[in-house]
Amino acid sequence: MTTERPIQMFHHFALDVADMDRSIAFYRDLFGFKLTERHKAGEVAAIPFELAFLRCGTHHHDLVLSHNTKKTYRARTPADDAEGPAYIHHFAFACKDRASWEGLLAKIRAHDIAIIRGPVLHSPWQKGGEGSWGENLSFYIHDPDGHRLELFCDMATIAADGTFVTHEGERIEQAKAAEI
Ligand SMILES: [Fe+2]
Repeated sequence: MTTERPIQMFHHFALDVADMDRSIAFYRDLFGFKLTERHKAGEVAAIPFELAFLRCGTHHHDLVLSHNTKKTYRARTPADDAEGPAYIHHFAFACKDRASWEGLLAKIRAHDIAIIRGPVLHSPWQKGGEGSWGENLSFYIHDPDGHRLELFCDMATIAADGTFVTHEGERIEQAKAAEI
């Protein structure tokens, strides 16, 4: 007997970082990530922190960096062991399509697991979009230990010329990646 798996793949981490420029440079210069877009805190009401979206392929993002300007970040010290201090804002699983995503949302609700954010269309461009970024449909939950987990579908891809392309293949000509 086979059971359909509601998610298709592990997708991205969003790391909470003390210094955006330093971390963008780290992931760009050492690993070749490209900046898709970067936003200031509060551009979208629901997102009171800075965000940078980086990609290593054609997805809108494979790595997100977040920085909370109201938070005090503690620097690593020699006394820290491998466990800290490092912060994950959230991690994400991709569903293969909207039907799978909606099925998973229904399953989560049937289990009485609280949706801590969403469902939301992360988009400044598409009808019904929140203004946030990625062109994907998402909702967020906590795992049993309080890790924030994003479940999403339909993220945009980035064409060779930097133009955003929706999951339906439609080019969003106004939307261009910061780096190609
Ligand atoms: Fe995310």
